[in-house]
Amino acid sequence: MKAEILAALRNKKGYVSGQELCEHLGVSRTAVWKGIQKLKSEGYQIEAVSNKGYCLISSPDVVSAEELKSIRKTVWIGKKIVYYDATDSTNIQAKHLAEEGYPHGTYVVAGRQEAGRGRRGRSWESPEHDGIFMTLLLRPDIRPKEAPMLTLVAAMAVTVAVRTMYQLPAEIKWPNDIVLHGKKICGILTEMSAEIDSIHYVVVGIGINVSNQQFQKSIAPVATSIALEGGRQIYRAELIEAVWEQFEAYYDIFFQTRDVSGIIEAYNSYLVNMDKQVRVLDPKEPFEGIARGINGQGELMVETESGVQLVSSGEVSVRGVYGYV
Ligand code: BTN
Repeated sequence: MKAEILAALRNKKGYVSGQELCEHLGVSRTAVWKGIQKLKSEGYQIEAVSNKGYCLISSPDVVSAEELKSIRKTVWIGKKIVYYDATDSTNIQAKHLAEEGYPHGTYVVAGRQEAGRGRRGRSWESPEHDGIFMTLLLRPDIRPKEAPMLTLVAAMAVTVAVRTMYQLPAEIKWPNDIVLHGKKICGILTEMSAEIDSIHYVVVGIGINVSNQQFQKSIAPVATSIALEGGRQIYRAELIEAVWEQFEAYYDIFFQTRDVSGIIEAYNSYLVNMDKQVRVLDPKEPFEGIARGINGQGELMVETESGVQLVSSGEVSVRGVYGYV
């Protein structure tokens, strides 16, 4: 009910009469009034003027299923949204939902994570109010070897959303970090359940540092948040929606060819290491070269003295020769 009232107030600029809300939602005036009071108690500023009705003046920075549903503009992402105030990890929860049969496009979002996970067994700092912690469940008709490219699709989505919403120069550190002014604001953890030639499901987990003011000592030199880099008026729900809108657009392009050939140019234009000397921390044999962008399979092309080496994401990490980027 709260989501429907919010959506109705948002869809109409200006005032919506109590009568209109009752008719639109098929409920009594008392039910509408109660819904409005509940929203006000949660921090929504709603003006009530007799003979005119209700008008939404401002929204708090809340991330709730109601808030997300009321601003949803996507086509297939978020038909089902599962929200937790706190959970272990949205990736873990998304995998449970996948096993229970939840559909393609469902996403899980949490106020905080108690066991947020990063790549290569690392943890992901997930403090309440400061970040976005969400995971999209996909059931794509693609081959298992094509799934890692979904990380690149997600990286494009976050980069373009941050750039568009806050006019900040977000860049991609291949394959799964988004950086602002050389420090990390977002990490992506893509996991899948598959057989040799078919995918059961993929979960794409996205963690964004939104308003963190400080970080644990171990990551402080390489981590930052959108707020620390100059982002203002950040409503996490709006950013979440913007990321999913972009994800749908880039996923469509990816899905047409089942590769990232359609986004190479855009991706490379945001690549923080483009044409720079990088160190590829390959567990077998680290090497250095000049990053020349991605190819259609999402591999990073690194020019070395012995020719161009193709680096696929896996367990590899790519660094600048002087530090993180
Ligand atoms: C990385 O850079 O190492 C990837 C970090 C991914 C963090 C996100 S937060 C939401 C989702 N749930 C998790 O446990 N991890 C991902």
